[in-house]
Amino acid sequence: MAVQENTPSKGEASGVAEAAPLHVAIVMDGNGRWAKRRGLPRSLGHRAGADTLKRIVEAAPKLNIRWLTVFGFSTENWSRPAAEVAELMALPKRYFETDLARLEREGVRVRVIGSTQGLSRDLIKICREAEARTAGNDAFFLNVAFNYGGKADIVEAARRFAEEVAAGRAVPGDLTEAGFESLLATAGSPPPDLIVRPSGEQRLSNFMLWEAAYAEFVFQDVLWPDYSADHLKAAVAEFQTRNRRYGAVVPDDALAAG
Ligand code: IPE
Ligand code: MG
Repeated sequence: MAVQENTPSKGEASGVAEAAPLHVAIVMDGNGRWAKRRGLPRSLGHRAGADTLKRIVEAAPKLNIRWLTVFGFSTENWSRPAAEVAELMALPKRYFETDLARLEREGVRVRVIGSTQGLSRDLIKICREAEARTAGNDAFFLNVAFNYGGKADIVEAARRFAEEVAAGRAVPGDLTEAGFESLLATAGSPPPDLIVRPSGEQRLSNFMLWEAAYAEFVFQDVLWPDYSADHLKAAVAEFQTRNRRYGAVVPDDALAAG
């Protein structure tokens, strides 16, 4: 396979990423520690985290980011104490109540990705409404991963393809990477170029497992409630120093030039 074929366009033949990341995904982490340091209940950390999300959704388009995917609640977060789960379940409502009108007005298309299993009818309705009200927008794309797990999403995609086969609408040999991607919750979004995790933790925690194949990772030592537009800017700047090769090789002279 030729090097060019496997390398995205945008004049990046040198493999040096100079452009802004088109799609940034963030593992919003550190709400609990932020609250603990202040002697506050964890719930207040989560509320402060929701305020950060507002700021970051406003800051991202100014950095030429077009897709933002945030991890709000993982399929593993159900194992937290019931009161904390309840607090986390209340966040989308709080967030959309205060911010949906602005998102709608500013051309942001919202998608809530993840399983609806275990979510209240009210919450599902709020999420579907946010999607419906912004369905015609295309200035910026916000994916909120809620009750999302990368493994669960891959299994769900596999199940859906198996159902197609069982129904006689497909045969196993039909399956391609692109076809499989179209069955994932993130279908329609490009893969994330940059995955950011604040709070000092350095792991993916079951976030976008498939989609992360060629993402760059930036870990930042700041708790999510303290995360600012400047932190996002720094993460983007770090991304822009990276040399993305997508498994190919880059000639030495191109690297020197970059
Ligand atoms: C992120 O903050 C919120 C969710 C994972 C839902 P945490 O609640 O994980 O905060 P820490 O990691 O305990 O500080
Ligand atoms: Mg955490």
